Amino acid sequence: AQKLLLDCDTGIDDTLALLYLLAHPSVELAAVLSTAGNVPVAEVDANNRALLELCGRDDIEVCRGADGPLAIELRTCEDTHGPYGLGYADRPASTAPSAGRPDRDAADAWIEITRDRPGELVGLVVGPCTNLALAIRRDPDLPTRLKRLVIMGGSFVHPGNTTPVAEWNVLVDPEAAHEVFTAFGTDGAPQPIVCGLQLTEQIAFTPEHLTRLAELAGSTPIELATAEDDHGRRSVSDNRVIALLTDALRFYFEFHHSVGEGYRAHVHDPFAAAVAIDPGIVQTRPAVVDVELDGSLTRGMTVADEGGFWGRPANAQIADRTDVDAFFDDLLSRLATLARRIG
Ligand code: BDR
Ligand code: CA
Repeated sequence: AQKLLLDCDTGIDDTLALLYLLAHPSVELAAVLSTAGNVPVAEVDANNRALLELCGRDDIEVCRGADGPLAIELRTCEDTHGPYGLGYADRPASTAPSAGRPDRDAADAWIEITRDRPGELVGLVVGPCTNLALAIRRDPDLPTRLKRLVIMGGSFVHPGNTTPVAEWNVLVDPEAAHEVFTAFGTDGAPQPIVCGLQLTEQIAFTPEHLTRLAELAGSTPIELATAEDDHGRRSVSDNRVIALLTDALRFYFEFHHSVGEGYRAHVHDPFAAAVAIDPGIVQTRPAVVDVELDGSLTRGMTVADEGGFWGRPANAQIADRTDVDAFFDDLLSRLATLARRIG
């Protein structure tokens, strides 16, 4: 099994990433770490616990992490992910006590879990890098103990999605992203595979994908919303997983539609999860990646030196190309299997 540490700011596409990992038979989630980002960390943490319980996996430890970036105020984006991060979906009830060590901080979890299993874990960060940066401040050797690191963040040769040049996860905590990029890629620490917007915005979840998912899950047909009707109307499905994903994704579709992207949604985070499971699904190119911290117009921009101008060794692999249809085939079939199991 592939052992994985997921650090996320759940979040609609984070939800897809978490369920996809839970659905994957060869993944062992060592812990789920919550960070502030899309919504405040208390909401992220509640979402993670509730989703694990819904899937019958309350044996997996959830560790609450930073409640804000290293050096600046937290900004959240309820307009994108809904009032508490799950779009129009209700948060599933959660009653089980937390697994593992209930009060373990997320940065401590990064340190301790990689100490217990050096060289075995794949790290997957699909929110701001705050927890990992804090962990590396406390334990600079941490990067050398990871087998692999996959980051959803940044944008290369492509406009940003939060400022003209910056991507959300990096912009929320630019100092943390800078510290993480600086700590990896040399001296025995792996080069993170960076899944930026230029690739993840090609991963568009459509209403037709939802229909296919419901069919594969053998669920009652869902009433598909369109851009024109239905703001907030709840879909009806006899399957809890399908109902949750439909209500969450419909909100995400509406957000993308409202900013001119069409009635569909970019699902960055489950794609990064697929890369964490099998890096063979992407072509990558080496680069020196760093984050602009000062620019009055460009703060939070990920800058890639691919021409050797800085005279620094490559510290990252930029994910370049993938087979989008193959990704969706795998995502939908695994989510459907999970949905059938949960009912
Ligand atoms: C990233 O920002 C968040 O809103 C998403 O969950 C994703 O991780 C995309 O820029
Ligand atoms: Ca995210």
